[in-house]
Amino acid sequence: MSNPLKVAVLISGRGSNMQALVNASREAGYPAQIAVVLSNDPTAQGLEWAAAQGLPTAVVNHRDFGKDRESFERAVDAEIKKYGCQLVCLAGWMRLLTPWFVGEWLDRLVNIHPSLLPAFPGLHVQQAAIDYGAKFSGCTVHFVRAEMDHGPIIIQAAVPVLPDDTEDTLAARILECEHKAYPQAVCWIAQARVNVIGEKVLVTGTHNPDAVMNPVG
Ligand code: GAR
Repeated sequence: MSNPLKVAVLISGRGSNMQALVNASREAGYPAQIAVVLSNDPTAQGLEWAAAQGLPTAVVNHRDFGKDRESFERAVDAEIKKYGCQLVCLAGWMRLLTPWFVGEWLDRLVNIHPSLLPAFPGLHVQQAAIDYGAKFSGCTVHFVRAEMDHGPIIIQAAVPVLPDDTEDTLAARILECEHKAYPQAVCWIAQARVNVIGEKVLVTGTHNPDAVMNPVG
């Protein structure tokens, strides 16, 4: 197998998606490795877990940069380049990125969001899906563009919204499929099967269309 793709995972909190990526990267034949876990928040729970796993961790505290978002991002960029990262995965990263960072990592910067975009961008999206009366929600892994929760969709997975769902029960159901969809998307990227054509993604070599629509069997 060729060298695994080097991935930076950017977190702001718990880091369960980061854990899913780390766990996947340890499976035999997985084509990507987690080169560094970076947080904007020194107290992010996920950092401790990553360090305990023996993974390189880094903190670039956004508070040290005041309102200067681009300087903050240049520091993040310098840190992840130190590790030779080729792909950046946002995994519960709660900082809006500037066009500079998005341009620097264009089509090498992915995000996971807990709704079926373009429905319900932003925050508290599980509650928003319940309040709207949506019958399905899910998760989306997409390339990042400057507009929040927007960009070419790599994979989506759907779950039902049940009549007695609370924000927490729906979030937990969606999170389960996030943990499958994100490693699947990164695997396809590392295998060079993900092409952005216009603003749409074509995954090559996926003969079963169901595998694109919903990886969660
Ligand atoms: C996940 O549900 C992720 O999709 C969401 O934050 C949670 C982070 O959980 N991200 C966003 O809402 C970004 N717009 P985690 O820290 O356990 O991975």
